[in-house]
Amino acid sequence: MSPSVITLETKENTSQNLVIKRPPSGVCLQGRIRVPGDKSISHRALMLGAIAEGETQIQGLLLGEDPRSSASCFQAMGAEISQLNTELVRVKGIGLGNLQEPTDVLNAGNSGTTLRLMLGLLASHPGRFFTVTGDSSLRSRPMSRVVKPLQQMGGSIWGRKAASLAPLAVQGQALKPIHYNSPIASAQVKSCILLAGLMTQGRTTVTEPALSRDHSERMLRAFGAQLEVDSDTNSVTLIGGNQLYGQKVVVPGDISSAAFWLVAGAIVPDSELVIENVGVNPTRTGVLEALEMMGADVQRENEREVAGEPVADLRVRTSRLQSCTIAGDIIPRLIDEIPILAVAAVFAEGKTVIKDAAELRVKESDRLAVMAHELTKMGAKVTELADGMEITGGTPLVGVDVDSYTDHRIAMSLAIAALVATGKTTIQRAEAAAISYPDFVTTLTEIIRD
Ligand code: S3P
Repeated sequence: MSPSVITLETKENTSQNLVIKRPPSGVCLQGRIRVPGDKSISHRALMLGAIAEGETQIQGLLLGEDPRSSASCFQAMGAEISQLNTELVRVKGIGLGNLQEPTDVLNAGNSGTTLRLMLGLLASHPGRFFTVTGDSSLRSRPMSRVVKPLQQMGGSIWGRKAASLAPLAVQGQALKPIHYNSPIASAQVKSCILLAGLMTQGRTTVTEPALSRDHSERMLRAFGAQLEVDSDTNSVTLIGGNQLYGQKVVVPGDISSAAFWLVAGAIVPDSELVIENVGVNPTRTGVLEALEMMGADVQRENEREVAGEPVADLRVRTSRLQSCTIAGDIIPRLIDEIPILAVAAVFAEGKTVIKDAAELRVKESDRLAVMAHELTKMGAKVTELADGMEITGGTPLVGVDVDSYTDHRIAMSLAIAALVATGKTTIQRAEAAAISYPDFVTTLTEIIRD
């Protein structure tokens, strides 16, 4: 690879520009790669390990900034967590109900999963007081979706705008069980309530309008919690009061990170990539179904089960893509992949419609507005909808200055778009990728050929 294709410019304030200069002859992508550990599973392994009795061993943990936020919050409440690494992290749990009152504010950084899941545990620790906050993005994201059900359970939580925004203060209480009909399909909401149910006597049930990722259910059960799942009604019930016990967790590669390479492999000419060891839990594989609808050549190989989660190697080859409609119950199963699927749609023949995805407006950035704006700057035909986007494929992209808005998935999606844009694209604030994929640029450098 000629080093002139990819360069990183570090700015004075540690912010980084990723510059991708496509040679006139184009580039192709070739290789076998691995993606970092699944972010959702990494958070849950650290949290359940921290509150279980005995030792939890975690292999393949994501070393991104988000799981580091989870680790530091639970260390501040008494859990002993060895230095984070991908080989083996040891968590010495403190047992259910034993989170200590921290002497400082718990800071979840950029991580909605850390903050929302943790709130369920804090609210159910009677007699203890906690304060929680996050970075400027997280402090603007809605917390009422978890605060309201916790208040219905008897939780005491205070904060700005009727406790809908962090910073929040939590006075732990003995909670009462509820049956919560969630208005949104959100694994963070579901998991928060289930975690609050762990120390609550009786049956705590969450019903969702569509099934969201089920990593909490799988891992809670493995740690010894009593759970009942009713798949006809998308309901899960946790029977409170059982101790959790430390386990061995093997974290598969994150399909949300693999998605960047799947789309890159499909749209960059003359490419073939194998992404090894990717988690293919059916509640996460919406992106594979969407790419299949678009006609992408993606094959699953070597399918197996590792520590309670399905895993496969994914092979992708350059493909002719067609437009499709992405809407309805599939949305929660590909929610984090919509920015990169929007890039795929730019290279698909016809009009791709993405609907029912208003949740994207309250992610690390307003991902509908940001993707529509930045792809339009590159020459794509994108119309922003209240709950999605319409993208007419087939117009070539041109390299320009674009911005990640400090959102990791935006930074990486725009980097993939840059591989097929003429000339030079500069992605500002590209360091955001480290939230979920610290080695993204290294891997890109390894697989790119010109
Ligand atoms: C996550 C759930 C999803 C997802 C996020 C991780 C989780 O959020 O977007 O990246 O680990 O539970 P919502 O629950 O808000 O949909």
